[in-house]
Amino acid sequence: MKGLILSGGKGTRMRPLTFTRAKQLIPIANKPNLFYGIEDVVGAGVSEIGIIISPDTGDEVKAAAGDGSRWGVRITYIMQHEPRGLAHAVLTARDFLGDDAFVMYLGDNILSGGIGHLVEEYQRGGAAAIVLLTPVPNPQQFGVAELNESGQVVRLVEKPKEPKSDLALVGVYLFGPQIHGIIDGLEPSWRGEYEITDAIQGLLDSGQGVIAHQVRGWWKDTGRPEDLLDANRLVLSHITADLQGEIVDSQVTGEVVIEPGARINRSTVRGPAHIAADAVIEDSYVGPYTSIGRGTAVHSSEVEYSIVLDGSEIRDLPTLLDASVIGQEVQLVGPGSAKRRKALTVALGDGSRVQL
Ligand code: DAU
Repeated sequence: MKGLILSGGKGTRMRPLTFTRAKQLIPIANKPNLFYGIEDVVGAGVSEIGIIISPDTGDEVKAAAGDGSRWGVRITYIMQHEPRGLAHAVLTARDFLGDDAFVMYLGDNILSGGIGHLVEEYQRGGAAAIVLLTPVPNPQQFGVAELNESGQVVRLVEKPKEPKSDLALVGVYLFGPQIHGIIDGLEPSWRGEYEITDAIQGLLDSGQGVIAHQVRGWWKDTGRPEDLLDANRLVLSHITADLQGEIVDSQVTGEVVIEPGARINRSTVRGPAHIAADAVIEDSYVGPYTSIGRGTAVHSSEVEYSIVLDGSEIRDLPTLLDASVIGQEVQLVGPGSAKRRKALTVALGDGSRVQL
């Protein structure tokens, strides 16, 4: 069994954050989204992993994940020159995959509960593919499965205008080598992409076994900033307190991680929250479901339910910063003494400068 993790494509839905970075590297609880997928694949016992990269962000992805030795696995990078679809990514990885079965994991997905049980099920035999499904409120934005009365998949449609169910395809799939023959005969969809959903439909049409399971626990496609905040909330709700930084004249309550070198002065931090190494929180309040990046400084401000990336500065905000995603090395500076009004909600790309 091999692993194929997709970290190519264009992160248009996550702009402005992804003008400057691979969307799969945006951190959730201060760990790149992509690493959750790698760790799930490694956790299922897979030791040879291919990562699909794009010319725009490939170097950044390589620098972040390296050769895989930190997870005890081997990572091979596979360049996909244009984002022509998920099935095209499989085609691009054809030499790497050979005739082995593989688990394919979309690099912007995050799943609780791991994938070990799926790999075991595949290895017991009987299926050309195993897919994961979960009910969503907005099925038009996903691949959607139609099941018969006995729960078997009968049809899969990518981003249907009139979905036949609310069951979305999760971005984690197990495939046998049969998928390659189907992909070889695939036509591009209406949006011009070679869809993996169409390839799985091709397996069904040719009478090959496709098993569908519902997700255990939770799953998120972190395609949009609000999904990122929700994924951050879900991951943070499972952390346990670990206070390694310096805490002076402050109140830290609940499940809070404060990494080495971080300093909390005259502040309140209410968990679950994750404060990365060398961050400084001073005369401030950091509320539940917040991640503060490495080397970021928060002075005289209140932040809740937000993600702030590395090396940013938040100072003298006149209002609560709520449900916000702040890029790297952003300066968000308020007027200081003004009266606090209602909450402020923003998504700021790397290097932004905002004066309130
Ligand atoms: O997240 C689940 C959904 O993922 C499924 O329900 C859909 O059936 C499936 O098509 C996919 O839809 P998205 O529109 O969310 O896919 P997206 O274009 O965001 O690409 C998913 C990941 O794969 C992302 O990390 C970028 C990467 N990618 C994408 C394309 C199109 C590549 O590496 N190469 C590509 O050519």
